[in-house]
Amino acid sequence: MISQLTDRLRFLRAFVTNPRQVGAILPTSRWAVRDMLDLADLPAAGLVVELGAGTGSQTGEILARLGPDARLVALEIDPQLAKLLGERYQDPRLTVVCDSAEFLDAHLDGSLADVVVSALPYTSLEPGLRRRILDVLPKATAPQGVTLVIQYSPLMQGELRRRFASVRRRVSPWNVPPAFLFACTGPTGPAR
Ligand SMILES: C[S@@+](CC[C@H](N)C(=O)[O-])C[C@H]1O[C@@H](n2cnc3c(N)ncnc32)[C@H](O)[C@@H]1O
Repeated sequence: MISQLTDRLRFLRAFVTNPRQVGAILPTSRWAVRDMLDLADLPAAGLVVELGAGTGSQTGEILARLGPDARLVALEIDPQLAKLLGERYQDPRLTVVCDSAEFLDAHLDGSLADVVVSALPYTSLEPGLRRRILDVLPKATAPQGVTLVIQYSPLMQGELRRRFASVRRRVSPWNVPPAFLFACTGPTGPAR
């Protein structure tokens, strides 16, 4: 309970320091995290990538669902949050990288992710950065893989549809604010 409160304060501090980069005042609720991760087959995944790991609301649950030989690469641009993640989850399957999601390729050693979990605040990011990151998503995902995206509005649905053959949407009401969850699969063709 105390650690949850501490996380919320850390998260709020990160938001106050850089509101457009953090894009939310609270970490994702455990219900929304579970609803989101239920959209992918994490126990069968070999490589999972997390973008915008924050204080780790998704990280812990991803690790709990992963197999013993799987790998999780978690990118977080805020150095203090990245440091916290590395200290909190001392799990040999986890690599925490303090870098921008647009440079994801550089951290995958040529592998493709079976599951990408993105909690980035696309609507508040600078448009050029947003486009570069969205373009990376299908390229970093294996052909049979899935990219999961959590947002607080349906605004990014069109951008995702332009990049993936199939985009499924569900709403998770038990989050502040309610969360829009997207499960994106399949290449779109030549643009990929
Ligand atoms: C809405 S928060 C989500 C945090 C956490 N995953 C959760 O669900 O509670 C977005 C996170 O993305 C990080 N972030 C923003 N831009 C980023 C970028 N270009 N690359 C990597 N992380 C980024 C922020 O620092 C913040 O921790």
